[in-house]
Amino acid sequence: MYTIKISKLSETIILAKSIAKSIDKEKLLNSKVIYLYGDLGTGKTTFVRYFLQNFGVSDNVKSPSFSIMEQYHINGLQFYHFDFYRFDYQSEVLSIGLEELDNKNTIILIEWPEKAMEFLPKPDLEIFLSCSDIENNVERYATLSTQKNKEGKWLTNIINSYEKMSDHI
Ligand SMILES: Nc1ncnc2c1ncn2[C@@H]1O[C@H](COP(=O)(O)OP(=O)(O)OP(=O)(O)O)[C@@H](O)[C@H]1O
Ligand SMILES: [Mg+2]
Repeated sequence: MYTIKISKLSETIILAKSIAKSIDKEKLLNSKVIYLYGDLGTGKTTFVRYFLQNFGVSDNVKSPSFSIMEQYHINGLQFYHFDFYRFDYQSEVLSIGLEELDNKNTIILIEWPEKAMEFLPKPDLEIFLSCSDIENNVERYATLSTQKNKEGKWLTNIINSYEKMSDHI
């Protein structure tokens, strides 16, 4: 688990870039699953928007809060961006066919995973976003956690890369 301060938008952009860069596109044999937690307006969609930019998704990345899912296919990679906020029941996720998305070259990003946790694939990376005063944008934090033991090195790479890049702003 690692917490960094991302009060400035430029820091969120660097975090998104660090994570994007740390994913070895050649070795994406199983889908990578990223959970994004955080209250309304803490920056989950904003993070995804900048994350996708690193892979060449330049069109307007829309929030999936109404559509539930937005997808992007670019340079041989498949991205699925979900937002389960509107779910009343965890089981609503079953109609989406998430298990069929577990393919190579696939990255799945999920906002509000707690709304469907029971039926979701395990995350490779969890990002907890928080904001101490949303109206005045006082302080924002991101806590990163990788669940699978073997991913510990991945987290270290992300943090090292983030620190290196943020030295230059
Ligand atoms: N450092 C920052 N990182 C992320 N967003 C920031 C930052 N500073 C300001 N913002 C602003 O905060 C807002 C975050 O909104 P966003 O839609 O990304 O939140 P969300 O967590 O996806 O909310 P929801 O749960 O409603 O989907 C945006 O307007 C964004 O520009
Ligand atoms: Mg959102």
